Amino acid sequence: MKQVKASISGIEGYVPDYILTNAELETLVDTSDEWIVSRTGIKERRILKEPGLGSSHMGAKAVKGLLDKTNTDPAEIDLLICATITPDFVFPSTANLICDQLGIRNIGSFDVNAACSGFVYGLELGAQFIETGKYKKVVVVGTDKMSAVMDYTDRRTCILFGDGAGAVLLEPNTEGYGVIDTLIRSDGVGYNNLVQRGGGSRFPATHETVDARMHFLHQDGQQVFKSAVRNMADVSAEMMERNHLTHDDVAWLVPHQANRRIIEATANRMGVGMDKVMMNIAHYGNTTAATIPLCLWDYEKQLKKGDNLIFSAFGAGFTWASAYVRWAY
Ligand code: ACO
Repeated sequence: MKQVKASISGIEGYVPDYILTNAELETLVDTSDEWIVSRTGIKERRILKEPGLGSSHMGAKAVKGLLDKTNTDPAEIDLLICATITPDFVFPSTANLICDQLGIRNIGSFDVNAACSGFVYGLELGAQFIETGKYKKVVVVGTDKMSAVMDYTDRRTCILFGDGAGAVLLEPNTEGYGVIDTLIRSDGVGYNNLVQRGGGSRFPATHETVDARMHFLHQDGQQVFKSAVRNMADVSAEMMERNHLTHDDVAWLVPHQANRRIIEATANRMGVGMDKVMMNIAHYGNTTAATIPLCLWDYEKQLKKGDNLIFSAFGAGFTWASAYVRWAY
């Protein structure tokens, strides 16, 4: 019997209309377009401005577009996995809210919290439900409204992040296309280097936590940078080695978009030229769980059936992850 793989049979993204440029950030904090572009590669990011809307709104837009594009009835979906670190509420899950907004009822849906690695974690989970034969159509959506946890007085972080969502449909494939291999890793030693300290069970919201700005993202950029470079490069190289892939075999590196310099270091370690690297950080910044599906969405027309793709991600936790995907269409 032929092995069942989970193929990505559709991809869709959503970004809000509002564009936050480096020029606007220059009016908020002591920074410059030159500093931001040279240190990160970011020129602008999208921001969800409308009050009362959260990550589920963007996730639902991406999933709605995905279902329309793939002619999929909401009733056909067997499972929906949402990767996010900016849920609408602490509970219930953002996955539940996305399903509700789309009229998807009576299926399993849950969130995955693995920060910037969340989409690859979700992909590994979703793929296994397809491989075992349990489900036929699984949606994995990454969505983050990072502007909700940004301190727009902190120049070290507010220049980096944006809002967006991206979703894929997973379906069974017996012709050798789809998610071939995945690696997910974590090490909590880095938890304090990239964290939102307030609002959880350890430090519930009080006047003191608000005054101490504990509800914003805090990042020790240099520590995170060093770990990101090492781990994203290591996990990508390991993925290639264990699947006997040379740089010639790789059609595309699909890296998490946190910093252009981290992406270049990863490509360099893999021996992959920058012409084979998907990059849209200039326009969206770091959208956390959404960066990888947003890259696939932007580059979809350039993808060919049989292309070997390596996804690589690193984020808070620390978490890091890679997937080897043979493109199915
Ligand atoms: N504009 C101007 N100057 C700035 C800015 C800014 N926006 N931000 C920092 N600086 C200054 C600093 O104050 C410092 O000045 P000093 O030397 O006088 O003290 C100087 O620039 C250098 O600061 P560094 O922090 O050393 O800058 P670095 O080159 O490391 O770049 C950055 C900072 C972009 C944050 C980088 O460290 C980085 O990309 N880190 C990793 C991010 C990442 O991968 N995160 C993981 C994923 S996110 C997630 O999981 C949610």
